Amino acid sequence: MDASDMGVDLNEILLTAEQIDARLSEMAAQIDADYEGRDLLLVGVLNGAVMAMADLARKLHNRANMDWMAVSSYGSGTKSSGVVRILKDLGTDIHDRHVLIVEDIIDSGLTLSWLVANLRSREPASLRIAAVLRKPDAAKVAVDVDYVGFEIPNEFVVGFGLDYADHYRNLPFVGTLAPHVYGG
Ligand code: IMP
Ligand code: MG
Repeated sequence: MDASDMGVDLNEILLTAEQIDARLSEMAAQIDADYEGRDLLLVGVLNGAVMAMADLARKLHNRANMDWMAVSSYGSGTKSSGVVRILKDLGTDIHDRHVLIVEDIIDSGLTLSWLVANLRSREPASLRIAAVLRKPDAAKVAVDVDYVGFEIPNEFVVGFGLDYADHYRNLPFVGTLAPHVYGG
């Protein structure tokens, strides 16, 4: 799917596929340097982090395993509440493993802070976070994100794994939707 397939539903492209790819290469180089000589376990948060995980993992030179978690945050509309439920847990025992959570976006940070607490209780050797996008509200929650792709404005975005009502995940870029899509 590309911009031409979206027609009038697309408002604006915020980050092109090329920009995202270049930034993920930089992040992968940093991660390779930081984890040199250590086996890494990448934990992708379904469904949004699928694209980020696939691209980031393939750019790494270090050994890396991949596992997935699916969580659902109860909330109204496009805001999350921080009340989180596990829909799919890891298949891997992360005790004594070097774990890197791969996230698509951090908005309120509530989902992530819950996830960090949950994974930390399993006593990994280390636990870090990589996120492609971060919105300004994330500053309100005390979650250290070690690798951030882009700081973006407080707007609802789609593409590169991110959805609106489960659509647009397969866009190669990150963009905003025209108001009429939300019924505005
Ligand atoms: P948080 O708990 O508010 O940080 O929300 C995190 C989750 O909400 C992300 O993993 C996304 O699934 C979703 N989300 C937050 N902002 C956006 C957005 O702009 N577009 C699409 N999904 C979003
Ligand atoms: Mg997500």
